[in-house]
Amino acid sequence: MAKNIQFSLKRQIRKQIKTTSDISIVGSGVIGQATGMGFAIHGLNVLFHDIDEKKLLLLMRKGYEVTTEILEALSTSDVLFVCVPTPTIDARIDVSFVQNVAASIGKIIGKLGRYVVVVFRSTILPKTTRCELIPILEKHSGLKAGKDFGVCMNPEFLREQSALEDFLNPSRIIIGELDQRSGDTLSKVYSIFNCPVIRTGLDTAEMIKYTSNLFLASKISYFNEVFLICKKLGLNPKQVSEAVSLDPRIGQYGIYGGKPFGGVCLPKDLAAFITFAKSKGFNPKLLSAVSDINKEIALYDSRLKS
Ligand SMILES: NC(=O)c1ccc[n+]([C@@H]2O[C@H](COP(=O)([O-])OP(=O)(O)OC[C@H]3O[C@@H](n4cnc5c(N)ncnc54)[C@H](O)[C@@H]3O)[C@@H](O)[C@H]2O)c1
Repeated sequence: MAKNIQFSLKRQIRKQIKTTSDISIVGSGVIGQATGMGFAIHGLNVLFHDIDEKKLLLLMRKGYEVTTEILEALSTSDVLFVCVPTPTIDARIDVSFVQNVAASIGKIIGKLGRYVVVVFRSTILPKTTRCELIPILEKHSGLKAGKDFGVCMNPEFLREQSALEDFLNPSRIIIGELDQRSGDTLSKVYSIFNCPVIRTGLDTAEMIKYTSNLFLASKISYFNEVFLICKKLGLNPKQVSEAVSLDPRIGQYGIYGGKPFGGVCLPKDLAAFITFAKSKGFNPKLLSAVSDINKEIALYDSRLKS
């Protein structure tokens, strides 16, 4: 971006900051925006931060408060939601975005002199918050987690196509907490929601998120395998799946075979989790099959198109 345009964006963005907000968002993409906009609908003051100024400008034009400075995001609110990407590269999760943000937050909270809660919303593998992110926060702040500042892991389950609507209508809220005070602070923020709130440890919250996505991927691969078998037998897979899905224990999600699961989350989370499980000495046989079937159906689908 040209320097003068960048400067004018910054100037426009800087004009509208208030001195306090209830929550701040670090990483104002799909999850960050749904979270911030959702809480704003419920009457909370929300401040959005991102390194992408164009995203901030669009949010500002919609009437939201935004900042280009992470320092401001921390100075104005006590609860900070971290919603930065965790891509999968060569079948491994890349946590560098979350690590970098944790380092920046650590440097700032070391000088703040008041209690804040850092809430990780990004999808991260079990034990990442406890064994990787808290040590980074402590190292850069010189403070002790659980005593001087709070930490929660609060996974999100929304679908990208209906992000805000899903955020506003959750089936459950998972609060992974380092300690009671961290969890109590985040629970208060969510008290406006009317759904089960499950308070648990940090590692369990991370595992709940993966277990959910891995199940959805498995269900799609299951019906894709049924689809391929039906085709081989000359049967109608749609009729089979629809009849099966009427059992309330099974339901409609993912029953229509013939297409691989795509989207942002399922392929990346499945691949990252398989590598993770193997690195811990566990051979995830079912999940590996889920991945294989997804590749097989992708091939089938591309042959049909060509
Ligand atoms: N998209 C979904 O449907 C979905 C659903 C559940 C969970 N998740 C998880 O949520 C996390 C975020 O996903 P997303 O889809 O919102 O990603 P996204 O790419 O839409 O948004 C991430 C944002 O973070 C910003 N960012 C990157 N580095 C930053 C930094 N250092 N400081 C401030 N901002 C920074 C980017 O500019 C971007 O705007 C990922 O871990 C993802 O796996 C996503």
